[in-house]
Amino acid sequence: MTVELTETSGAPESAPQSSLIAIGSGTEWWRSAVIYQIYPRSFADSDGDGIGDLPGITSRLDSLADLGVDAIWLSPFFTSPQHDAGYDVANYVDVDPLFGTLADFDAMLARAHELGLKVIVDLVPNHTSWDHEWFKAALAAPEGSPERDRYMFRDGLGENGEIAPNNWQSVFGGPMWERTTNADGTPGQWYLHIFDVSQPDLNWENPWVREQMLGVLRFWLDRGVDGFRVDVAHGLIKEAGLPDYTPPADAGSMGGGVSPLEPGIDSDDPPTPPYWAQDGVHEIYRSWHEVLDEYEGDRVLCAEAWVEPLTKLARWVRPDEMQQAFNFTYLSASWNAPELRKVIDTSIYAFGTVGAPSTWVLSNHDVVRHASRLALGADNLQGDGIGPKSPGLPDTALGLRRARAATALMLALPGSSYVYQGEELGLPEAIHLPDEARQDPTWFRTNGKRYGRDGCRVPIPWEAGKPSYGFGPTTASWLPQPGDWDEYSRDSQTGVPGSTLELYKLALSLRAEHRLGMGAIEWLPGYGDDVIAFSNGAVTVISNIGSVPVELPAAEVLLASEAVTERVLAVDTTVWLAN
Ligand code: NOJ
Repeated sequence: MTVELTETSGAPESAPQSSLIAIGSGTEWWRSAVIYQIYPRSFADSDGDGIGDLPGITSRLDSLADLGVDAIWLSPFFTSPQHDAGYDVANYVDVDPLFGTLADFDAMLARAHELGLKVIVDLVPNHTSWDHEWFKAALAAPEGSPERDRYMFRDGLGENGEIAPNNWQSVFGGPMWERTTNADGTPGQWYLHIFDVSQPDLNWENPWVREQMLGVLRFWLDRGVDGFRVDVAHGLIKEAGLPDYTPPADAGSMGGGVSPLEPGIDSDDPPTPPYWAQDGVHEIYRSWHEVLDEYEGDRVLCAEAWVEPLTKLARWVRPDEMQQAFNFTYLSASWNAPELRKVIDTSIYAFGTVGAPSTWVLSNHDVVRHASRLALGADNLQGDGIGPKSPGLPDTALGLRRARAATALMLALPGSSYVYQGEELGLPEAIHLPDEARQDPTWFRTNGKRYGRDGCRVPIPWEAGKPSYGFGPTTASWLPQPGDWDEYSRDSQTGVPGSTLELYKLALSLRAEHRLGMGAIEWLPGYGDDVIAFSNGAVTVISNIGSVPVELPAAEVLLASEAVTERVLAVDTTVWLAN
């Protein structure tokens, strides 16, 4: 059955009354950029040790320029004992030998700029590694010392301080507190770690900490970076008194819950956990904004803040704070047209109220890849991952089909989009990793109850039939690659019409040609509730998210996530038509 276009079918219920929706204005590159996330340890390995590195990245940058992205963001490559894949930084201003040297970084940056790619690095300000000299000094110093005041040390409760200072539970499972041992072997104070025990939280009430981090920003800006992705940008300040808190059962691990459906753009804020989204974070970002302003050109701070609702998240991107915030409400939305329409509307509206562009993102190194997530048959809390025993494991073909349609929809939206390495190859989550290969602290801290994030972090395939699929010169790969990834490798998709790689390339080139990132969308009536239809300048975009095929208007097909025949748009398909 095909649903026909009718004069009488109205605009979808959630479409706004005045349907032309524009994003904040301005000409800065980051307003409309497509930013490609490189997860360095899994991108390209130059020395064959099984861990990707900076020279590996440099050697593969041409393929990203060829893909058509505007910028790259690199997850951490700084000195680190790697207990949380580098999000445990032991020196903010040096490169870990695993990834190379500062000279390798400079060479990578120079090559990226030569190719016209902006470069964003990760800043991890909420916590350091326990190997950081600041933390070592804090442990060695007495209670109440300036060194201890750089972190969140507290006395324990109970007669002998044997009870943790409060009931907070770590994002990775287990308590958020660890007890120290004094030099004389007696039990000492406790320190706070929102994440792993190896990631002690800094005390952002301390001006010394603030000053140090301004120096870190300047170090990388002086080297020429175009901006920072700011890790846990909602976590730096904790509620005074550190009151007990128990999150709702359906809260995702990273944010205490970002629900896909907003309660409504006018609703009050939901309760705020005492360790997330405290008002005090904003003055920190104002001071960072000023540092970026000291440098010529447009630089960007992008907040990794799992905050809801979007109207609250918009506070992170007020004109004197950050420039962008990841839109995790969009990422968390299910494959459902009314839900997606609503989150698109709310995003553009909420960010627009503060003059910021919306961002869009479907995958990253913390979530189940969208080629698997969109076909999951069961709920999956953010951070849980999926493994062989997870309920509702996805159908690979259906997941890929939806992922292609979802990406074609996302890349037509005005604003800035983030693409995670490997999604342009259609990579699914690696579900069947052997238990002994898993490395995410979540897996260990929950005794295997939560699989964690390794499945989206497996080194990506470049060349079919080669050892480690061309990830490196040897078979070594820090997480084992599935045996059936030849078909996903970049070389087997290059130049192949209809491949996922070519779909991304076409979408990115049309997006640039028609300036869709700087555009405005107008919802189109007449397609029914299960279909998303809008125009963005010269392009009409239609996504069929329902269960029956849809008739298309007579127009030139510019792009289709699946082949379109006889003006029929199949289920789980997106097309771009010429207006
Ligand atoms: C968010 C990062 O994306 C994640 O990978 C990391 O584990 C936590 N922050 C802690 O830094």
